[in-house]
Amino acid sequence: MKKGYFGEFGGQFVPELLVPPLRELEEAMQDIMDDPVFNRDLDGVFTEFVGRPTPICRCANLSGDLGFDLWLKREDLAHTGAHKINNTVGQALLARHMGKTCLLAETGAGQHGVATATAASVLGLECVVFMGALDVKRQSHNVRRMELLGARVEPVLSGTKTLKDAINAALRYWIAHQKNTHYCLGSVVGPHPFPLLVRKLQSVIGREARSQFLDRTGRLPDLVVACVGGGSNAMGIFHPFAGDREVQLVGVEAGGEGRPGCYHSATLSRGSFGVLHGTRTYLLQTSEGQIMPSHSVAPGLDYPGVGPEHAFLKDSGRARYDVVYDAEALEAFYLLCRKEGIIPALESSHALAWVIGNRDKIRPQSAVLVNLSGRGDKDLDIVREIESQV
Ligand SMILES: Cc1ncc(COP(=O)(O)O)c(C=O)c1O
Repeated sequence: MKKGYFGEFGGQFVPELLVPPLRELEEAMQDIMDDPVFNRDLDGVFTEFVGRPTPICRCANLSGDLGFDLWLKREDLAHTGAHKINNTVGQALLARHMGKTCLLAETGAGQHGVATATAASVLGLECVVFMGALDVKRQSHNVRRMELLGARVEPVLSGTKTLKDAINAALRYWIAHQKNTHYCLGSVVGPHPFPLLVRKLQSVIGREARSQFLDRTGRLPDLVVACVGGGSNAMGIFHPFAGDREVQLVGVEAGGEGRPGCYHSATLSRGSFGVLHGTRTYLLQTSEGQIMPSHSVAPGLDYPGVGPEHAFLKDSGRARYDVVYDAEALEAFYLLCRKEGIIPALESSHALAWVIGNRDKIRPQSAVLVNLSGRGDKDLDIVREIESQV
């Protein structure tokens, strides 16, 4: 495969001024990430700070109802409550080895911003987070968390004042401050080498899950299911299973409200081929090539693009992608709360909802592994607001 590409997807479609920091990052990945010292440091942070390995658990009550075994990979139990921390502590360590003193991030819902601020704090780096002004208002709780952790939050007033505008602002900031700043991108998106770097760091999820599943059951799962925003938790759990052809990989996108004409975030299922944030992938665009607004009840899935490796997995047929609507995700959210004692993130609830919606098509002896990418405490205001509208 051509360097930086997954089939025809990926690449580095960036202004010339971004080429030097991307080259510097690629060289650092080659020089540092295979080094035993870096990996010893990373393992130490994963174990002592993040709380890895996160467990897998069998949902005893729901498995009884569904008629097949439902397992969860518990990324909700990682420090800060989601998988995002795996990526940020890894990139923060890399940045420190590169001699950088500042971490730069963009954030939508605030989860990646909190995870970056956390990693910066523990590794002694400064932190600047760009966030759309609308998201600053919607996610004030996470803004406070980032500030407590010592980060500077910069509201972005351009465009729709959401995640894609925050990424644009962060890329511009990086051009001006590349000497001392590392851009800690939050998903498997953006120009090469970010999709590869983030997948490498998030693959710890799938490596652990694969070996835990073998230990517990003596076999591999039949289905591995994960929600897809940019695609990092899905790629993290999929990648170590990619060579196991008998394991089906299912990525679940957000279909929004599901009414005709309403915005959604189902990039792979309903988008088309184009370039967004430096990478060639599927995206939501008008016939004139303008990026369309996206929408989901789950803020972390609300992005009009997707990681290029997912585009490749879809077109090659190795993974399939499907859509779940807001109402189905909410139903799954309540079900996990009431049946299993776990409050899931609304993002992860999409993956769970797909399993529930497809229960009749899943064979009775099957074992299904869902990546529970995060916990739902952050979503309680959203849920309360929806409840107040009914
Ligand atoms: C809990 C949780 N799950 C999933 C996502 C989606 O991101 P990704 O597709 O990169 O895993 C987010 C993004 O903020 C998130 O907070």
